[in-house]
This record gives sequence, C-alpha cells and structure tokens, in this order.
Amino acid sequence: MGLVPEIDYGTPHPRGLKGDTDAKMVTLTIDGETVTVAEGTSIMRAAMDSGVTIPKLCATDTLDAFGSCRLCLVEIQGRAGTPASCTTPVAPGMVVSTQTERLKRLRKGVMELYISDHPLDCLTCAANGDCELQDMAGAVGLREVRYGMEGANHLGQAKDTSNPYFTFDPSKCIVCSRCVRACQEVQGTFALTIQDRGFASKVSAGMDEDFMDSECVSCGACVQACPTATLMEKSVIEIGQPEHSVVTTCAYCGVGCSFKAEMRGTELVRMVPYKDGAANRGHSCVKGRFAWGYATHRERILKPMIRSKITDPWREVSWEEAISYTASEFKRIQEKYGRASVGGITSSRCTNEETYLVQKLVRAGFGNNNVDTCARVCHSPTGYGLGTAYGTSAGTQDFDSVEDTDVVMVIGANPTDGHPVFGSRLKKRLRQGAKLIVVDPRRIDLVKTPHVKAAHHLPLRPGTNVAVVTAIAHVIVTEGLVNEAFVRERCDWDEFQDWAAFVAEERHSPEAIADYTGVPAAELRAAARLYATGGNAAIYYGLGVTEHSQGSTTVMAIANLAMATGNLGRRGVGVNPLRGQNNVQGSCDMGSFPHELPGYRHVHDDATRAIFEDMWGVTLEREPGLRIPNMLDAAVDGTFKGLYVQGEDIVQSDPDTHHVTHGLESMECVVVQDLFLNETANYAHVFLPGSTFLEKDGTFTNAERRINRVRRVMPPRNGYADWEITQLLSNALGYPMSYSHPAEIMAEIAATTPGFRNVTYEMLDERGSVQWPCNDDAPEGTPIMHINGFARGKGKFVLTEYIPTDERTGARFPLLLTTGRILSQYNVGAQTRRTANSEWHKEDRLEIHPHDAENRGVRDGDWVKLQSRAGETTLRALITDRVSPGVVYTTFHHPMTQANVITTDYSDWATNCPEYKVTAVQVSPSNGPSDWQEKYKTHSDLSRRIVGTDAAE
Ligand code: SF4
Ligand code: SF4
Ligand code: SF4
Ligand code: FES
Repeated sequence: MGLVPEIDYGTPHPRGLKGDTDAKMVTLTIDGETVTVAEGTSIMRAAMDSGVTIPKLCATDTLDAFGSCRLCLVEIQGRAGTPASCTTPVAPGMVVSTQTERLKRLRKGVMELYISDHPLDCLTCAANGDCELQDMAGAVGLREVRYGMEGANHLGQAKDTSNPYFTFDPSKCIVCSRCVRACQEVQGTFALTIQDRGFASKVSAGMDEDFMDSECVSCGACVQACPTATLMEKSVIEIGQPEHSVVTTCAYCGVGCSFKAEMRGTELVRMVPYKDGAANRGHSCVKGRFAWGYATHRERILKPMIRSKITDPWREVSWEEAISYTASEFKRIQEKYGRASVGGITSSRCTNEETYLVQKLVRAGFGNNNVDTCARVCHSPTGYGLGTAYGTSAGTQDFDSVEDTDVVMVIGANPTDGHPVFGSRLKKRLRQGAKLIVVDPRRIDLVKTPHVKAAHHLPLRPGTNVAVVTAIAHVIVTEGLVNEAFVRERCDWDEFQDWAAFVAEERHSPEAIADYTGVPAAELRAAARLYATGGNAAIYYGLGVTEHSQGSTTVMAIANLAMATGNLGRRGVGVNPLRGQNNVQGSCDMGSFPHELPGYRHVHDDATRAIFEDMWGVTLEREPGLRIPNMLDAAVDGTFKGLYVQGEDIVQSDPDTHHVTHGLESMECVVVQDLFLNETANYAHVFLPGSTFLEKDGTFTNAERRINRVRRVMPPRNGYADWEITQLLSNALGYPMSYSHPAEIMAEIAATTPGFRNVTYEMLDERGSVQWPCNDDAPEGTPIMHINGFARGKGKFVLTEYIPTDERTGARFPLLLTTGRILSQYNVGAQTRRTANSEWHKEDRLEIHPHDAENRGVRDGDWVKLQSRAGETTLRALITDRVSPGVVYTTFHHPMTQANVITTDYSDWATNCPEYKVTAVQVSPSNGPSDWQEKYKTHSDLSRRIVGTDAAE
C-alpha cells in the first residue's frame, strides 16, 4: 500500500470540468508520435497525454499557465525560438520536439540558476522525496552548479512560522508564483503577492505581514501548490514524509470534500485535497485540511463509562458491562413505562450506514418510531418545502453546475464561512462575470470581497424572508417576466394561475413591504429583474432560510421563483440548499425522522412498511413517533424515560436549553455516544465512546446528494466503529444484527430504498462517488434533478402568505438577534475548539452596529449582557457596520456562550425546526459572565469527574 497516485498534467483541461464532448479536436506530432487533443490544450498537456513528460516548475494543472520558469521549453518546426510548452496551445499539424540537445542545455542552465540560490540541504529537508525542484534537477541531469554557491542569494532569510499549520521559508522560494496564483485562482482570497522585481522579488503575505496577520484564511491551497519546501505543513516537518494514503471524505460540512489521508504507519501526517474529488476538485478549507487533531486530543474519551445518577462521578467500565447495563436499563424502562417510553437520536455527523442502523434499532429493536435527528434543527424545512414543490427533498444541482451560472442568488447563507470550498468555486464564477444577489440581514463577505461585488444586497430584517421572496415573485409576475412555456409544460397550470394572482396583489409589491422588511423597493425590483432575465439563474440558500417559524414557507417561495422563471432541470440553475453538517442529507435520507422510513416514505404507507417488515422480521409501528421536542416534553411529563443519542449534543444545539436540560434530567437512562464528554453528557447515565471518521468505513451524502466513501485509515482508538456499537446494543436488547462490514448495511439500504437501488461499495470504489437517485432509471446517478419532469409529476406552486413571527421587538427587547458560523469553527465547536483553529476564534462575540452600541454606552470589546424573553447570556461586543442598525449577530461555537439559552421555543409551522434566526433581545453593558454561566461551568466540571482517572477537564 503506497501513496494514491495523482498525475499533474501541467495545465488545466481547456474545457474545464465539462469534459471535451463537443470540443473541436486537433492532431499534432510530439517527438514523432501523433497526438489528438481538444482545441486549446497546451503542448505540455498534450505531451502528457502521449506519455511524454516535459520538465516544469511554475506549471501545475490546477492553475492557469503562467510561463515564468522557462524550464518547459520546446522546439516547434517552422517556428523560431524555444516557446514554453505550458503557455503554447496546440495547433493542427504542429510538429513538436521536447528532447533536443539544445533544449537539454537550456533547461540545465535554468536549473543551475535556481539551485545556485537554494540551500543544499536536501537530505535534511522535510520535503526530501516530495520536492519538484529536486525532481527537476534530476530530470534535467544537473550534476554541478558552475556559478558556485557564493554569489548573491536569498539564503538565511527568516522563516515565518506564525500560521499554526504551515511554515513559510523564503530561503527555499524559487518565486514561481504558484502560491500567489493558487490563492487568487483557487481560493479567491488574494492574500499573497510577489513584491518587488527581478532578484529582489519575493512572496509576501498581505502588506509584508506574517501569514497570521494577513488576509490568509489558511485554506492550504498555496501549500499544496508550492513545488518546494518553502510552504510546508508543520505536521510533515514534525512527523516526516507520508508513506501511504487512503482517499476519504471530510467530516465537517455538507460540501463533502474528498481528501487523501496521508499516513506514516498508523499516524496521520496530513490531509491533502483530492483532485478527483467531484465536490471539491482538489481544494479544501482550513477545517478539512488542517483541523483533524481532535481525533487524538487528550480529552477524547476512549473507555465506556456509567453512573447511576447524573450527579455521581463517572465510572469506567468494560464494553460488555456498558452495553449490558444499557440494554437492561432500556428493557426495564420499557417494561415499567411502556414500549414508547424510549427513543433514539441519529447523528448528521455519522455515516449513512450508522444512521440507518440507529433508526433500525429504534423501529425494530425498541419497537416504536421515536427516532429523530439534529437535521430537525437545521434543514427539515428543506425536506418539506422541496418535497412539496418538486417531489424530492433535496437540492437540484451538483456543485460543478455553478460554472454555467449567470446569476447567483444567495439567501440566508454565508458560503465563504459555512461552505468555504463551494464559496471559492462560487467566487471564481463571479470573477468570471456572473452576477450576484445577496439576501441577508448581514453584509456577508461575498457582498464585497477582492474582485467580487454583489450587484444587489437586500439587507432584510430577520424574519421577513417570505415577504421579500414573495415580493420578488410579484415583480416577476407583474412585469411579465414569467417563463410561461416552462410553466405550462412542467407545472400545474391552475395552481400557477392561483399563485400568480396571489403574488400580484399590491400588498406583495416591493413598495408595500419595504417598511417592515427594511429592503428598498427599487433595489428589490432590480434584483428580481436580474434573477428573471440575467440568463441561467441559481439560488443557493442556508439556515437563514430554514431556521424560522416560516422556514418551510420560504423554501416553497424559493421553489416557486425557480419554476416561474424556468430555472430548473439543466446546468447553471436550480435550487440548492447548502447543508450544514457533513451528512445531514444522508441522515434525512436514511429515515431519521419519526414519520418516515428510509427514502422519505411515510410510516403510514403499508407497502413501505411491508418492505422493511420482510427485511427486518418484525411488525412495525404504523403511527409516527416523537420528535425531539416532543420527547423532551414527554420526559418532563414523566412518560418518556430513556434516550440513546448518537453523535449529537442536543443541550448545545437544540433551542431553549433550559427545557432540554429539564427533559434530560427527568429521564432514567440517557446514553450518549460521542468523542468527547459534551454538554449533553452532563445529563447522561451511560457514555459510549464514539469513533472518528478516520476510524471507520461508510458513506456520507453531501449537499449535492453525492454519496462519498469514508474509508478507515486507522483502527478505532475506542475499540469499535459507531455502527458496531449500535449493533452490540441491538444484540444485547435481543434484536439480532450481524453485519461484518458497512458494505453489507449499504446492500440492505439499496435493497429497501429505491433511490439507492444500484449503490454498492464496488461502484463507489470504481467511480469515486455517485449522486442519488441511482437505480435502473439512472444507473450513472443524477447530477441534475428534474431534467425532463419533476419527481412528483407537475411542479406545485404553493401560496406563500407572510405571517410575521410571534417573536416581536418592543420596548424591552428592541433588537433582533440572528446567528451564524465562522470559517474556523464548526457548529458547537466540539472538534474545532480542540485544534489550533481556536487561534482564529477564541470566543463568540456579539456583532452590534455602531449606533446601537453608542446608544447603550458599549465600546468594542466590552462585556455585554444579551437578554431575551427566554434567558440571558454574556459575551463581548464587536462593533461593526456589517450588521444593520437594530440587528445583532453572534456565532454559537463556544459552550460558555450558550446562545440557545436566549433563543425562544418558536419553530417552523411544518417541521418544528427552531426559529434560531430571530430573537428579540436587549443588549446592555455588563461586568463579565453572568451567574448562571459561572455556575454552568462549575456544574460541567463536576459532572465530568471520572473515578480513578485524572482525565477530568
Ligand atoms: S512559496 Fe513556493 S509556490 Fe510560492 S513562489 Fe515560492 S516556491 Fe513558488
Ligand atoms: S493558505 Fe489559502 S488563503 Fe492563505 S495564503 Fe495560502 S492560498 Fe491564500
Ligand atoms: S469545505 Fe467543508 S467539506 Fe470541504 S474541507 Fe471545508 S469543512 Fe471539509
Ligand atoms: S512550466 Fe512552463 S514556464 Fe514554467
């Protein structure tokens, strides 16, 4: 087992990701061989296609050709000189020589110059064996340097070690500018420049700052692009060059980036983005690329623990004891309180196979439908809204589709922080000329970032999404911008007419809603016209759409816009939810909701139940089970007593923390299966240590419906993969499971779930990934949905009446709080806070507009009390005009902030998704953390004590 090979063709494919199906082909001769390639291909790439490798240094196939190093020279019959093969496109009949004596001499001369200004420490250099400069010296046959090493040079310059993950050693730099171009072309941050000219030219981060103080977002693209040891991962310097690698999938966000996990023995050396990864195309963000150290963090719990009361210290026990204790407790509870007194929560962080097993355990082992998922608190309205309008509870496009988009509308999402690799791909398209509309209360980075400026920013008041999106529809309908041919052919015409009459009402005009939404009417009209007439228009949205009392309504309003303008069923268009967690799509697909079996089929449906009853050998409950909030209500009422929570921290992530903890305190057996003692574990009786994504096999399904393989790169440090733990528990409960590998679980999923019918691990190994539906109708999977018709038949227009949330501002709570994520941290921070990512975000801050801050006597950095009707918390203020007056904003990555203490229990009318994005609050100066925060910390510390160890925090 060695390193997964990846070929560098030197320059990108001329047709980008679209392949060359309709490209004009060109035939030429290279070193006597006839080669036929797509028009626009470089000579360097054509040579690679014919098996000839031309030496290169400044070229790499992830970046546009630059032509600076002069190492790739070739001779072309009939042309003077020696052009660079990386910047010279092929031409019909061209005759190219790549290996003449003259070329060899010239290349050797170029390499001599480089090497004469390079520290000759190859044997002790961390890049030894993985250095293109070293390789090229060998390739051109350089044996001596005629100029000697004594002349003017760049040796001895200070190393920049400020970034926690990589170093910059300018003495090894050959100024090929690959890093600068990677930061511009791939990442789109423009943090690096080449300063000065000639011999004095050098790479500089920002205005000659160190990397940490610059605009750098630590995506790693420059490190990846660097052909020398100048930019180098610290982990490689510390551990040594990797020896073997395994392709797997990032376990952070719903982009689902593919990585090569590069190993030395069983130690992970680095995660390198995989060029063949269809979601990320070789790019990464700081989380997936670098923030994997939590897997070996000292606070990770590796032994099972139990305790009789949640006020007792934990007691480490064997796996046998923990499993049999849990099973006996669940049996006791069910005997005493009834079959419906227990339930389970699946995790959007775990694999499809693990999620499938948890819902199977609940339905077949517990004998009820009390299973729910954390997707409840984020994208359940997407499932409901898109399911209603189109018939499929998922986004319509693949990420590649953005390359054909002319107009992008981003609603309630912050891709550069929340979905960074997609954010970079989007920025690239915007730099190429696509237009951008941002609908967001906050001036997110995309509104104005290097070489990108939104055509329109609609800074709506939190909670008014439905009014704004319906007003966009009003403009489209009343100004005659509907794509009638599409609507007549693809949608229910009667429903469309009802909808058109509804949105055309004057009360839905931009002018009528301007006051209460805060969006200027002219700006909204211009944005609507651009969306409807600007060419291929795509909508990307996030939790700023779903986490509202009208979350499902907004999703349907968005679905209406795309149908009315015909922006569905082809590349470059569509409706695309940006999913938060790595497997939130998969956890929904796998039947994690109490009313749905895998594949979104209602438990009422006799035929569907029959499929699973046959497969599982049990009779299934016909009535939907309890949702998470209902489980907690029932616990407070004394009828729900046992909960199995896999990979989820409901105390931190669910709304109304006090209600959650009250519910948990009322239960008799709470089982938490996780990597760390999270906040929910404070209320647990059993802790089952979970495994990381590096320690197990399985699949994640990303926001594009792409099923990606997760591959085990090291044995589980806790002893078992999460699916094995669920299986042990099921067997102990008396419901037998005997899978020997997750591939067998996928075979069961495929056998029972139509959209997964043709999915197998063999297929995934062969193809890399596949987007569901993948069955006999779509054996290759489905990159774009609804090409010839909607999954439900005719597209359904739904009337979207705006109903203001019950959460209102007033004299006591005059400001509106909305929440979001920051790039370096992830959700409740359990993983990222245990990595060096915390260097970028040590605490959650409250963003407040200068006017609001001044009115309250708050200065930047002051402690402030944030109060709502539900509760209060304290954090420090960040004064910024990114938020409008009247709006405040915070992240929720740190447990001490507990933003959900102040969120209310209002929720989406259709799905119960909590209204996290709108809370009426007051902000006032404070002296520091409030009493409950101090108490909370003490309580957490106490309950984390473990008998017989010193592992307490
Ligand atoms: S740091 Fe690396 S990629 Fe950047 S110019 Fe120097 S050698 Fe080239
Ligand atoms: S790590 Fe990324 S953002 Fe930072 S300088 Fe390199 S390419 Fe630019
Ligand atoms: S964009 Fe998302 S999936 Fe990709 S590396 Fe970053 S966190 Fe991981
Ligand atoms: S590789 Fe072509 S000029 Fe550098």
